[in-house]
Amino acid sequence: MSSTTSPSQRILESRTHLCGAVTVDDVGQRIKVCGWVAKRREHGEHLAFVDLRDFSGIVQCVVEGTVDVRSEYVLQVEGTVQLRPEGTSNDALSTGMVELHDCTVTVLNIAEPPPFSLDERAEVDEPARLRHRFVDLRRTRMQDNLRMRAAVNRAIRHAMDAQGFCEIETPMLWAPTPEGSREFAVPSRQHQGRFYVLPQSPQLAKQLLMVSGFDRYYQIARCLRDEDLRADRQFEFTQLDLECSFATEAEIRSFVTEAVLDAAQAVLGERPEYPVTMTWAEALDRFGTDKPDLRFSMELLELSEVFAHTEVKAFSAPTVKALLVEGGGAMSRSALDKLVDRAKELGAKGLAWFKISDGGAGLELESPLAKVLTDAERQGLFEVTGARAGDLIVVVADQYRLACNVLGQLRVELGGKPVSEGPYRYCWIIDFPLFDGTDAEGNPEAAHHAFTMPHPEDLHLLATEPLKVRAQSYDLVLNGWELGSGSIRIHRADIQRQVFAAMGIAEEEGTARFGFLLNAFRYGAPPHGGFAFGIDRLVAIFAGENNIREVIAFPKTQSGADLLTGAPGELSPQHMAELGLRPVPKAT
Ligand code: AMO
Repeated sequence: MSSTTSPSQRILESRTHLCGAVTVDDVGQRIKVCGWVAKRREHGEHLAFVDLRDFSGIVQCVVEGTVDVRSEYVLQVEGTVQLRPEGTSNDALSTGMVELHDCTVTVLNIAEPPPFSLDERAEVDEPARLRHRFVDLRRTRMQDNLRMRAAVNRAIRHAMDAQGFCEIETPMLWAPTPEGSREFAVPSRQHQGRFYVLPQSPQLAKQLLMVSGFDRYYQIARCLRDEDLRADRQFEFTQLDLECSFATEAEIRSFVTEAVLDAAQAVLGERPEYPVTMTWAEALDRFGTDKPDLRFSMELLELSEVFAHTEVKAFSAPTVKALLVEGGGAMSRSALDKLVDRAKELGAKGLAWFKISDGGAGLELESPLAKVLTDAERQGLFEVTGARAGDLIVVVADQYRLACNVLGQLRVELGGKPVSEGPYRYCWIIDFPLFDGTDAEGNPEAAHHAFTMPHPEDLHLLATEPLKVRAQSYDLVLNGWELGSGSIRIHRADIQRQVFAAMGIAEEEGTARFGFLLNAFRYGAPPHGGFAFGIDRLVAIFAGENNIREVIAFPKTQSGADLLTGAPGELSPQHMAELGLRPVPKAT
């Protein structure tokens, strides 16, 4: 039984023991167990070994006579616990020392043969698993994952309660929120032609609750976003969502840290290291990303000064940065060509590489560019990178952000490991820019959302150099995955007006989109801020899974289909009419 399985189950009339909980202490007792037939092996004509399985494990039942039990039949077995004969115990099972004898078998239900083997070692293709998810979820791996998820939720609730947070549910039928993803809409029957929007997050609702004086709110909240699915994204996902009033950024981060470390402790049995805190600018500079994976170093190296006055055209750029790939000198020419292509795919104009070898009289460079470097540049390259014979240096010269991003991605592809592999290295990224570039009309776009409070020291830059304004926003990162994000919110109308103005949002437009929030703020909005992290992502990492589908009971496929129910499906003409909807003929 896994550590996340509930330890106590009340004894019921139909069973006295869980299958996985029968031990040598029960020898001699007559007990009852219920479960599914995991395996049946014949032993002669009138004796069969039936492995009975429930969520807690498997117990072997020695069944005499002719009973028709097949794979996945649902049984109740009453039997007497006996030690297994000498030499037949099975160390792989928690019940491996014992078995049930003198069994009375009651078939509670018959079952068709399972669509695939439930043996943990069997490779089953994912569509089959999703089509028969109810069977797939019987497997130990899935039982453990979902029970681990429940244990994480339990620990989070406990941590939030202990820190004075109040759990409040917010509406699912709601209005647009400012996260910026495409939203799912629900047609209204009573108000034909009008739509509810499913919440991307409880963002605005929780801010309203701060105006209402709840002080500290949290919710294990379902969120819905109509975005392209991938390993860490589903349409429906779950956040620990929180908001609190009268608290500093650092205090909010510490509330969240408590919850994630408690959750880790609950399911992993030990408390991971306290997260390090790093500014966004530092993360970009050292790791080329705002989601640094701190399980390995391989940091970006700065060569801009070395090549400040270079004649090498490929290096005449505002930024020249590099990665040292230890032992990478063994890469073949075709692998290097692929690496260059990959860098181009990521947006770089090219990628320079240098293999380092020992030429007897010192280190030598092997590269198409080796001959064109000056001695000083060659020396600088060795000094900054600390390269040794057998290593590889890859260099990108470009605009600063681009060079960082390309090398940040290559760093993970060359040196990284799957997200779920330990150790767990949390990291807080703070001081994000308030705006993340500009839109087609040249207006700055909010990096987090339009209600994020600018950094107090940068307020004066809002009108003049908005792209330089830092935000009071912060992300929590675990092993290279963004776990969550949050910010201090704007609670004052004058600052909100300045931010809208910087974004080119006219006051009327802001009021039209978020009027109910701005209106509420006129009635005494306390200073407040909050955070939300993805529980699916956290549990996947703890469970050793690299796709969040494995920790969701009924997930969608990559293309957004539910193979079990067939959703999305069509509505009947009556249902459509009731909702005031008419199908648009498909374009041919
Ligand atoms: P944000 O949009 O960054 O912030 O979302 C927070 C976290 O939610 C998880 N997440 C997802 N998980 C699975 N599938 C998805 N499609 C998906 N989208 C997001 C991620 C992400 O880091 N309201 C703000 C928080 C705040 O400011 O308080 C928000 O939702 O782990």
